[in-house]
Amino acid sequence: MFNSLEPIKADPILGLLALYREDTSTQKMDLGIGIYKDESGETPVMSAVKRAEAIILDSQKSKSYVAPTGSASFNSAIAELLLGKEINDSLGRRRATIQAPGGCGGLRLSAEFIKQANSNATIWVSDPTWANHIPLMKNAGLKFATYPYYDHASHSVKFEEMISCLRTIPEGDVVLLHGCCHNPCGADLTQSQWHEVNEAALTCGFTVLIDLAYQGLGDGLEEDVFGVRLLAKTLPELIVVSSCSKNFGLYRERVGAMTLITDHPGKTEIATSVIAASARAMYSMPPDHGAEVVQLILNTPELRNDWSAELMEMRNRINGLRIKLVEHINASDINEDYSFIQEEKGMFSFLGIDVPQVQTLVKKHSVYLVDSSRINVAGISNANIEHFVSSLNAVIA
Ligand code: LMR
Repeated sequence: MFNSLEPIKADPILGLLALYREDTSTQKMDLGIGIYKDESGETPVMSAVKRAEAIILDSQKSKSYVAPTGSASFNSAIAELLLGKEINDSLGRRRATIQAPGGCGGLRLSAEFIKQANSNATIWVSDPTWANHIPLMKNAGLKFATYPYYDHASHSVKFEEMISCLRTIPEGDVVLLHGCCHNPCGADLTQSQWHEVNEAALTCGFTVLIDLAYQGLGDGLEEDVFGVRLLAKTLPELIVVSSCSKNFGLYRERVGAMTLITDHPGKTEIATSVIAASARAMYSMPPDHGAEVVQLILNTPELRNDWSAELMEMRNRINGLRIKLVEHINASDINEDYSFIQEEKGMFSFLGIDVPQVQTLVKKHSVYLVDSSRINVAGISNANIEHFVSSLNAVIA
């Protein structure tokens, strides 16, 4: 029966990582996959994570099953991290949080849930959006459409086009927004634009799904959830999928969550039973270790301070690199204006070059980036910034 299978091309982001690992050049640079790197090019285990792991190793008494919805203490700690105590308290049992196997697991769980709530729903994603959004969610059987988002010419959000499109989206459809640090373009909504999106959702009645994969890596833990909190306060329904891959550096542990708000505690209870049944049918229950680490950090003041200080260092490094990169480009022979890179947030920005130019960067200069020209700014360091800028200059000259 296996003879009929055809090979499937590797996912563009993971396929690039495999190519990078095979490259033997001493100058190779990985600006592909969205992983934080320090100045030496490493993705270290955060110090609070190491300390929490030591505590768990010493004190954990059992490895028995938890539940399809995961750990209750993780779920409430994550809800408070996203929403803040005041909003979380005021939502009460209108809010439920369900632990998931990473942000990807949370997105897939959301897609299954949306399909059950309205099998005709269309999910509206930004143009462009993260390369895995549609592959992840379409397997639940949903339809997709795009709303305008990034203007490659002006390197900014084309908000008038975006909001005009959102105002046509009916009740029963879902709009997927990036909570902060837009992947792949790094261009985020301003606070007043979030207000307009909120108004459109209230007026048109569409449901909002926020993908929040980078809380703390843009402007700060509180600043990055401005939109999430605004919508959580005002909309009758909201889904937020969050990930601990980047802000806790727990990538391979698969730690994420789906937070759901409805307009009535009874509806939230029903919805939670539907989501728990989907989890049970797909993977039974999420992995425990990373979630236990996160809940211990968030619930232990000393560990939490250590974690948020290290996260601030990571954020400052990325924002500093953005400024440094623009300075180096300005000091080079490149005549194009790349100042937008220092305005953008999080790990990603587009270089705005075409696929053959990207391919030349990869094949001739060992600078690895995806075909869209998205770079992971965190892959740049003092040691490789000159190689990057001279390679870019060579391909655009
Ligand atoms: C990325 O966009 O590179 C990250 O979110 C990692 C991934 O799984 O694609």
